[in-house]
Amino acid sequence: MKFTTSVIAAILATSTYATPLAARDDAAPSITITASYAAAATSDSSTSSAASPKDTLLTQKLLLADTAADRYALLPSNTQFQFDFNQPKGLGGKGGDLFAANRKTFPALVGTSSGMAVGFLGPCGFNTPHIHPRATELQIVVEGKVITEMLPENGVFNVPGNATSGRRVIRTELSAFQMTPFYQGSVHTQFNPSCDNATFIASFNSEDFGTGQVADELFAFDDMVVQAAFGQAIDGADVDKFRKNIPASIAKGVSECLTTCGIAARR
Ligand SMILES: *[C@@H]1O[C@H](CO)[C@@H](O)[C@H](O)[C@H]1NC(C)=O
Ligand SMILES: *[C@@H]1O[C@H](CO)[C@@H](O)[C@H](O)[C@H]1NC(C)=O
Repeated sequence: MKFTTSVIAAILATSTYATPLAARDDAAPSITITASYAAAATSDSSTSSAASPKDTLLTQKLLLADTAADRYALLPSNTQFQFDFNQPKGLGGKGGDLFAANRKTFPALVGTSSGMAVGFLGPCGFNTPHIHPRATELQIVVEGKVITEMLPENGVFNVPGNATSGRRVIRTELSAFQMTPFYQGSVHTQFNPSCDNATFIASFNSEDFGTGQVADELFAFDDMVVQAAFGQAIDGADVDKFRKNIPASIAKGVSECLTTCGIAARR
């Protein structure tokens, strides 16, 4: 059986825009995620931050400090209270970059229950569907245009109480200085539909907000589990094929964007 558009739509929570994962050649650039925005997907040691602690135990010491006042002795330099999001971009040759300040990359956040990220989306840049397990995100666009989609949780339908009406996808089109919340645990995605850069700033009510890329996580299960999860709609041999293609799943709007902007699809 074919891996249908509606099946993919269910995974990606982009029912209006989803096309099959197999449409690999339509792949738009996804964004490079830095630091621990997606801890599972990146190695923290591979990224350097101006604010990275030289003392690898600093975050632990801050967490163990008897009082908040005692933490200041562990942060003697004022530069330890400064985080620089101006980091080298485009290293992955992808559609954009995202830099995250959490208690690991920025130990001064210990005790604040707060985190921050800045996302730079190039033309057609796409941040694949993901969740944050420990935080609600407030995202404000400060440059360009960003389209967002969020799938809150089970039981939220287009017509309240009517499952047949389909899951409700909350879509926003944000331009400069407009914002949207992504609730803790919700599946959400963002993309830049234009040929110009877009920049967003995201705050989190956790110093360790964490991230999970949904398609990547789902296809990490055993083949049999993946097949069962899709009602056996995917052939066993195809599971690995789909797995290798992630995260190149792409929204139709983004494909159109690539064409409009004359950007070559990448593998
Ligand atoms: C539920 O939604 C479906 C699809 O929109 C519609 O056909 C059906 O009439 C709705 N049922 C009720 C009870 O409103
Ligand atoms: C878009 O962003 C890239 C990477 O940050 C930068 O090199 C480029 O100059 C930006 N383009 C414009 C028109 O601002």
